[in-house]
Amino acid sequence: MWKYLMAFSSLFSSFVYGTPGGYNLRSQGGNLLPYRNSTLCIDDRVDDLLSRMTLEEKAGQMYHARTSLVNGTFDGNIQSNVTGKHITHYVFSGGVNDARAVATWHNQLQQLALDSGLGIPITISSDPQHGWTDDTAVSNMGASFSRWTEPLGIAALRDPKLARTFAEIAREEYVSVGIRQALHPMIDLMTEPRWGRSGGTMGEDANLTSLLVVEYIKGFQGDKIGPHSVITTTKHFPGGGPMENGEDSHFEWGKNQVYPGDNFEHHLIPFKAAIAAGTRQIMPYYSRPVSTKWEEVAFAFNKALITGLLKEEMGFDGIVVTDWGIVTTRYWGLENQTELERTRRVIEAGCDIFGGETKPELIVKLVNQGTLSESRIDTSVRKLIKEKFELGLFDNPFVNPDVAERVVGNEYFSRLGNETQRRAFTLLTNPNDFLPLPLSALDASFYIEGIEDSILESRNLKVVDTPQEADYAFLRLASPFKPTTASGLAASINNGSIEFNSTEKSRQAEIYATVPTIVDIKFNRPAAVPEIADAAAALLGNYGSSHDAFLDIVFGIDKWAPEGRLPFDLPRSMTAVESSKEDVPFDTRDPLFRFGHGLQYKEICKETQKSI
Ligand SMILES: *[C@@H]1O[C@H](CO)[C@@H](O)[C@H](O)[C@H]1NC(C)=O
Ligand SMILES: *[C@@H]1O[C@H](CO)[C@@H](O)[C@H](O)[C@H]1NC(C)=O
Ligand SMILES: *[C@@H]1O[C@H](CO)[C@@H](O)[C@H](O)[C@H]1NC(C)=O
Ligand SMILES: *[C@@H]1O[C@H](CO)[C@@H](O)[C@H](O)[C@H]1NC(C)=O
Ligand SMILES: *[C@@H]1O[C@H](CO)[C@@H](O)[C@H](O)[C@H]1NC(C)=O
Ligand SMILES: *[C@@H]1O[C@H](CO)[C@@H](O)[C@H](O)[C@H]1NC(C)=O
Ligand SMILES: *[C@@H]1O[C@H](CO)[C@@H](O)[C@H](O)[C@H]1NC(C)=O
Ligand SMILES: *[C@@H]1O[C@H](CO)[C@@H](O)[C@H](O)[C@H]1NC(C)=O
Repeated sequence: MWKYLMAFSSLFSSFVYGTPGGYNLRSQGGNLLPYRNSTLCIDDRVDDLLSRMTLEEKAGQMYHARTSLVNGTFDGNIQSNVTGKHITHYVFSGGVNDARAVATWHNQLQQLALDSGLGIPITISSDPQHGWTDDTAVSNMGASFSRWTEPLGIAALRDPKLARTFAEIAREEYVSVGIRQALHPMIDLMTEPRWGRSGGTMGEDANLTSLLVVEYIKGFQGDKIGPHSVITTTKHFPGGGPMENGEDSHFEWGKNQVYPGDNFEHHLIPFKAAIAAGTRQIMPYYSRPVSTKWEEVAFAFNKALITGLLKEEMGFDGIVVTDWGIVTTRYWGLENQTELERTRRVIEAGCDIFGGETKPELIVKLVNQGTLSESRIDTSVRKLIKEKFELGLFDNPFVNPDVAERVVGNEYFSRLGNETQRRAFTLLTNPNDFLPLPLSALDASFYIEGIEDSILESRNLKVVDTPQEADYAFLRLASPFKPTTASGLAASINNGSIEFNSTEKSRQAEIYATVPTIVDIKFNRPAAVPEIADAAAALLGNYGSSHDAFLDIVFGIDKWAPEGRLPFDLPRSMTAVESSKEDVPFDTRDPLFRFGHGLQYKEICKETQKSI
């Protein structure tokens, strides 16, 4: 009878999910293996599975590798990771540009896992996909997803409810293509304006970040972890903001984290909120703390921090995942140790899974030589496989590519994202209510930088080649940074001055002196731009927004108006930043604009402008 039922349910699932069925047919003496039997409770299934796993299979669970979609299917290399190394956690590397292709790829990967060994399903994770950073190492721009601002824009709107809505929508999109773990949120406090990853945080204020992160986590995970949840990975413990001189600890030259203001505790505030909200995973940062009471090794090697502070004091009982490459690439403080010793230190510290590494043989060796106990390994593996049961992955790991295509980037999600892009603009200066531009400006000539001509031309706006010919200029700028010849991450994580250099300042000054100019800065980091605030006809800030959104704001189309308020202080100068303390919020001297600054448009009748 059960065979008939299972055959039916397998038929049903292949019918519904459009995938090969059979994953729950594995049996022993006519019965499902207990861990495959969904009527049993999860803890019993976990015990059963764990009892069947070899040491090699357990070690494999403790690695979270990278993979990508290659020519419409999974990278052939991954087979040796899945079937050879028993690795079942992977970050999808790159943007989700074609929902159907990713869903199909995901199903093929799940089938590969199902057909190997104990058939432990794969958990796919992703860095952010809904923002504006596209570099595969820290954030992607999945072309098919709804497009939002960075979380900073939601912080600018001071709207926890919107954080929840965003997270629920992102969750729907993720789940539909098979992504079940978010390698975010980033709740590092932006207390050091030079830090190149500031733009991925929720700003400088601990309380605002705390309010937002709670809703963010609930939106992704749901009230209870289940088949519709996406696990959140809150990072980077214990707060990556206080980077020495604002460098970044992806790099050797930025490996130190410092607390000259003795403000370590402050950075824990949002983590306390995230733990209370039930975040399932937490990621320590690469940095090593210097001149504190903590050992000067990277946080993931730091037992007092991970076990003592995070687990015992703060009560976190979820999964600790290291940042990518802590054993083979970025091992600050343990430079002179072997990979084997670094592996031991990570586990001894209390971490459960290695991000971006594929060396389970090191764990096997540590256990076989008696350096690590198998029961310590079991503690982590139990958590890791329990999460897969809770996500429902053992009961049905497949997604439906038809559904993925319908859900991802649908009209409703896309519209809410577009609206948020518009609302989050922050109006910093607007003398004499220069913005929104009057109706007559629609017939004017525009000099533009940072926008393609075609965008204006598609609205029948006239673009000219020089400021001299123009009635208005639009400059969409990135926040200042030091140009580099480096490639990859070193190019995408900015450093150097947050002021424009003198050549650039005088170049811009000529434009401002020639034509009324609207400047819009995308805040990858805060910018020190008093000269623009003085000379531009109006100054806007954004946290990721399309050119269409910008034009709608500038002209007040459909009554769109900036609603954002700064989620950080804008310093006055690089000198002020250099003499402030990395770990202390709101401490640069005489900031240009304060946290919370943001002007409003004057209420005017714009009905007639609806037409363009
Ligand atoms: C699942 O477990 C229950 C409870 O032990 C058992 O009654 C049932 O027969 C099992 N189902 C299958 C298909 O093995
Ligand atoms: C496993 O994954 C890594 C990247 O995460 C890749 O470089 C490697 O080729 C894969 N295969 C093996 C056997 O490690
Ligand atoms: C993808 O397909 C193209 C065209 O068939 C081929 O040239 C290329 O080598 C393939 N790439 C990989 C990584 O398999
Ligand atoms: C943050 O919240 C705490 C506790 O409610 C309060 O004491 C503190 O004044 C708040 N800080 C700010 C900057 O609002
Ligand atoms: C590693 O060894 C070198 C050379 O002996 C030494 O200069 C350096 O301080 C050591 N680094 C650490 C982190 O112990
Ligand atoms: C959202 O904005 C993009 C870019 O401007 C546009 O292509 C898309 O159609 C918009 N979506 C909706 C639902 O309006
Ligand atoms: C900034 O980053 C570059 C690489 O892009 C690096 O060489 C340099 O040491 C970093 N720091 C400063 C202050 O330039
Ligand atoms: C000055 O800044 C501009 C634009 O930001 C950049 O293109 C140029 O290379 C910089 N010059 C120097 C000397 O750094």
